[in-house]
Amino acid sequence: MRLDKALTLAGYTRTEAKAMIARGRVRVTGAAVRDAGMAVRPEDVLLDGAPLQAEREVYLMLNKPAGVVTATEDARLPTVVSLLPEKYRRRKIGPVGRLDRDVTGLVLLTTDGQLAHRLISPRWKAEKLYRARCEGALGEADVRAFAGGIELADFTARPAQLRVLSSGEFSLAEVTLTEGKFHQVKRMFAAVGHPLVALERLRIGCVTLDERLAPGEYRSLTAEEVAGLRRMTELDGGE
Ligand code: URA
Repeated sequence: MRLDKALTLAGYTRTEAKAMIARGRVRVTGAAVRDAGMAVRPEDVLLDGAPLQAEREVYLMLNKPAGVVTATEDARLPTVVSLLPEKYRRRKIGPVGRLDRDVTGLVLLTTDGQLAHRLISPRWKAEKLYRARCEGALGEADVRAFAGGIELADFTARPAQLRVLSSGEFSLAEVTLTEGKFHQVKRMFAAVGHPLVALERLRIGCVTLDERLAPGEYRSLTAEEVAGLRRMTELDGGE
């Protein structure tokens, strides 16, 4: 492969790669190389005397704004991936599960396909916590209905925890689910006669939306957050 390609695969931008080559920081089988297009084997490339490290997996949380689609590409609308800088977009990074376009809050994005798969698989039952604002006064009957498993047209939802925070003309509640079928939270609230006005996701498993992130902002997950997700999905001891 081309030398500049070997460097971009290791996580550098093309501009960074060209500058590093021009400054003589890159050696191939011992000799400094100035030709970015030279055909190389990545294992023969040294940067500042050290072998190239394959870039480590990327794990991010994003505070998704309304109007953004949870996809890698869309012909018309901004996507969660288009909100990230180029250095992440060059990697095969993708969202873990989906939030509807009008739903805001926590979206995890990662290059780690195995973890992403397990977090959305019903088998590992990752908890998702949402804050919901709905029409009408929520009460004990609604809490019981959620706990009992609400029947929807095509399936019965698993028991879910509903915690009413305020109740009136509009109500505010937190709801915790262990599954994530299409429009599930909206459909559950509609089924008990309280259509949703707004929905925000606050937590997935052990990862809580960082309240310092404004809508559209992201940050890397901490090592503890990644270890917690990996432990939860039995990928390793989390170490
Ligand atoms: N439930 C919904 O209805 N929509 C979402 O985006 C997530 C959960």
